[in-house]
Amino acid sequence: MKKVIKLLIIDDDDFVSASLSDYLINKGFGVRTASNGKDGIASFEREQPSLVLLDQKLPDMEGVNVCQKILEINPNAKIIFITAYATVQYAVEAMQAGASHYLSKPFELDELSITIDMALKNVQMEGKLRVQDYEREKDRREKKLIGSSEVINRIKEQIELAAGSEATVLLTGETGVGKNVVAIAIHDLQAKRETYLTINCSAIPENLMEAEYFGHEKGVFTGAETRREGIFELSDGGTLVLDEIGDIPIHLQSKLLTALEDKTIRRIGSGRVIPVDVRVIATTNENLEEAIREKRFRQDLYYRLAVLNIHIPPLRDHPEDISEISDYFVKRFCRGPVRIPDSHIRKMMKYPWPGNVRELRNVIERAALLLQGDEIRPADLLLQDSLSSPLEKSSQKTMNIREIIPLEEVKRRHILSALRACSGNKSLTARSLGVSLSTLKRKLREMNIT
Ligand SMILES: Nc1ncnc2c1ncn2[C@@H]1O[C@H](COP(=O)(O)OP(=O)(O)OP(=O)(O)O)[C@@H](O)[C@H]1O
Ligand SMILES: [Mg+2]
Repeated sequence: MKKVIKLLIIDDDDFVSASLSDYLINKGFGVRTASNGKDGIASFEREQPSLVLLDQKLPDMEGVNVCQKILEINPNAKIIFITAYATVQYAVEAMQAGASHYLSKPFELDELSITIDMALKNVQMEGKLRVQDYEREKDRREKKLIGSSEVINRIKEQIELAAGSEATVLLTGETGVGKNVVAIAIHDLQAKRETYLTINCSAIPENLMEAEYFGHEKGVFTGAETRREGIFELSDGGTLVLDEIGDIPIHLQSKLLTALEDKTIRRIGSGRVIPVDVRVIATTNENLEEAIREKRFRQDLYYRLAVLNIHIPPLRDHPEDISEISDYFVKRFCRGPVRIPDSHIRKMMKYPWPGNVRELRNVIERAALLLQGDEIRPADLLLQDSLSSPLEKSSQKTMNIREIIPLEEVKRRHILSALRACSGNKSLTARSLGVSLSTLKRKLREMNIT
């Protein structure tokens, strides 16, 4: 969905104001006008336009002072100075006050148009830089859901269904089953939605989370030196993925619910309600029903999120896809014709894949590094260790009740030995364990290991 870009013209010359306004409305901009400094500042605060065309001389104030006031409200504001006094001194003054561009009367409308385009490009670039902060693993992103089993075909149908509606989607399933792949697939089918942003609810410190979601005004807390938009505003007109939604603290859950129901947000420290048009997709590998029973997750929010619930089963439930998915990754990671021996496919079909398709991808990627000739032998790399580790061996003989190790302790020891095996490299450990880095970090936090 294309957003109308808002411009504000502050000029006391009604004729100039009206003709600029006509010209810019014709170009598809949303235009507001003000004829003095005070009204201009008020209008800026209310409308939050992307760009201001500001006359140097106003009846009540100097343009330079209006410029300063506007930048106090929003330091990222783009201001084009317009003046009849074409002297170098004014240009310097305007730029020193923070204007981004300068035009002197009389100017051609084409010249104005080019200047506006330049200023807006800057706005876009600054926005993109922030947006990139949220985009992780961009080049590793899969756009296509591979597989042709009944399980995968059903999910493909559900993706189509979801793309045809605007309802919130909840994607559930174990780690690595492809929840984010499905989220992208839904987004890609919705041509009108442009931005695609992901925020990981477990990766952000609790005290900063509200600001990340909804933004804040300048000076409302220590560290809030400037006004900042939250991710809901940044993804206006697009798709927002709330990853690991089970980790969102309870006190924020009611605010999120309000945002979803009213389609509006309010920045911290502001009374202004801002409408946002965002398609929300939430993902979790947690059992939210259990979290609801334990009062860690609000039931009303759950119902709101799960208007459409797509559950992606683990890979061990559709082993018939293993061959096709493996071939897909072999093509991606190997050059030339490379084949996987049938015996390896058979072994892989019996393996439980705790890290699901992510683990399969990693196994193929590592096997590709060890490639000899035209054969790739991924089954050699399955976590045989985990199947025949001391922990596993102890489960094969009959245990004495006193020997039973609590499940959480087994997990803890397994993670610690994996960390040791990877010399403390967390990314490698996560990959080897077949979980995402954020999942590993969360587990380490839960276990008080940092
Ligand atoms: N059906 C699939 N087809 C192709 N690739 C897949 C599929 N499912 C998963 N993948 C691969 O596995 C990786 C992990 O998938 P994804 O990030 O979507 O998992 P997830 O379910 O979101 O896991 P987590 O809960 O750990 O975040 C993807 O980057 C992709 O390479
Ligand atoms: Mg994910």
